[in-house]
Amino acid sequence: MSDATAKKEERRKFQAIRGTRDILPPETALWNHVEQTAHGVFSTFGYGEIRLPIFEPTDLFARSIGEETDVVSKEMYSFMDIAVPRLPRLANMITEWPWPDPTSDEEQFSAYQRCVSAFTDEYERAVADDELHPSPVNKQALQDIKDRSNTLSGTSLKDAQSKQLARESVRAIGLAVRIAEVGDYLTLRPEATASVCRAYIEHGMQSLPQPVKLYYMGPMFRRERPQKGRYRQFYQIGAEILGGTDAPGIDAEVIEMLMTFFDKCGLQGATLYINSIGHNAENCRRGYIEKLKAALEKVKDKLGPDSQRRIDTNPLRVLDSKLESEQAIIATLPHIADHLCDECKTHYAEVKRQLQVRGVLYQENWRLVRGLDYYMRTTFEITAPGLGSQNAVCGGGRYDGLVELLGGPPTKGIGFAIGEDRLILSLQESGKGQVPQGRDIYIAWMGEKAHATAIRAAKDLRKAGFSVDLPPLEQKFGKALGQADKLGAKYALILGDDEVSEGLWTLKTLSTGEQTKFTESDLLEFLRQQKNVSS
Ligand code: HAM
Repeated sequence: MSDATAKKEERRKFQAIRGTRDILPPETALWNHVEQTAHGVFSTFGYGEIRLPIFEPTDLFARSIGEETDVVSKEMYSFMDIAVPRLPRLANMITEWPWPDPTSDEEQFSAYQRCVSAFTDEYERAVADDELHPSPVNKQALQDIKDRSNTLSGTSLKDAQSKQLARESVRAIGLAVRIAEVGDYLTLRPEATASVCRAYIEHGMQSLPQPVKLYYMGPMFRRERPQKGRYRQFYQIGAEILGGTDAPGIDAEVIEMLMTFFDKCGLQGATLYINSIGHNAENCRRGYIEKLKAALEKVKDKLGPDSQRRIDTNPLRVLDSKLESEQAIIATLPHIADHLCDECKTHYAEVKRQLQVRGVLYQENWRLVRGLDYYMRTTFEITAPGLGSQNAVCGGGRYDGLVELLGGPPTKGIGFAIGEDRLILSLQESGKGQVPQGRDIYIAWMGEKAHATAIRAAKDLRKAGFSVDLPPLEQKFGKALGQADKLGAKYALILGDDEVSEGLWTLKTLSTGEQTKFTESDLLEFLRQQKNVSS
């Protein structure tokens, strides 16, 4: 490899990982604006912010989102959080004993036994220190190791029979060590609804006045194929309302809040799609799924491999298919609306009525089933223009029963998550992505005395709320003014020896080139007035 190629290789190492990206100024100003709007709008609806961990036990997501979903089966960033570094090394030695067979001679045999007891000691210490949280299966495996280890210590290698017994125990210990697991499985959160429910249970929020209204914002992680509007680290702004009633007014108000937020952000052309997927009962969704399955079996040969597989694993998801060749077939499938139980039907009708009362426009989409398992009854999605194929800017729905599934009391729940990256993209594409920014004032100073005055001026101007750039080194006025221009400053404050000794400071308006002299206090007053005029 040539030096140049090697250097290039080295540089490549430090690029942001595929599917992740840096969000830079001035774009970050738009992100802040969107997030401030969310804080503002959600608080007017009585929601409080919750800040959640970025990683959680893998099982939390597997259980709530569903093992068969794309998110859990393919897209999660999971890792083992190794409790004690020595544990995997010992486990590896036990399972891949690097020397001659541990039962080959007494020396190997006792070395092997020491290794096994070091493993069980470390393991138990890690559990006692709360560093490791074994499942019942892991605990049983540890017990098996200890039992077999005891058998080994009472075994000699003198005759063929005891040697055989020792070999069997070594094999059994190897298997049990693999099952014992030397750390906890953790996952970078792919979404936050599961975490909010976990927090609701953990903090006994069911004893607070119900419902509890929470919102969150932050990064989520899914290992999807990156494309426009689809990232592996992306950002969501979401809200969840837990506990109390499942009255349709709650569903309608959550959606109303969402649309108010989009409106405040200036999002144009958003379309709200709604559906009801009923509840998990024979006279409702389960019955519908059976009918759907039967209908799908009849057209199985015409479906692609993904949909064919889903007939068994998750038939509702076939309705989600974007495959062109499947669209005509899907159009012939039974609709869930015709198979809802009376209560779910009434609930859905009332949600729609209440949306109308609130002036929220919607379209019904019978194929809107959502990709996560916890949903029931109301589901909704919002699309926005300018996003290409990844045009869902928000998804949500009702999930009564999720808190219970995670070990809490029976609890109603509904919420949504906005894809912030996509919202920003759509705002930018429609020309609504401009947030005023740039410096108010650039201080061009020359001379020792002027520097001290410039430092004081910067402090006072910043205190008064202006954004100020103070160059750290003296520059010729021409160069300083050029720099002020490049930075998009509105004004340059010129401070040289003359200005300081006269007590009259020169303010240059960069857009017009006009220069005016002010006393210090007049200058502040003038800038304040100008700011009020422009804001
Ligand atoms: P979701 O539909 O999986 O729902 O995600 C919500 C939104 O997050 C999507 O509509 C999309 O805008 C954005 N999003 C998802 N994946 C990506 C990605 N790879 N890149 C960029 N944006 C993405 C949920 O996450 C549920 N927890 C929503 C919810 C809250 N339901 C009830 N409460």
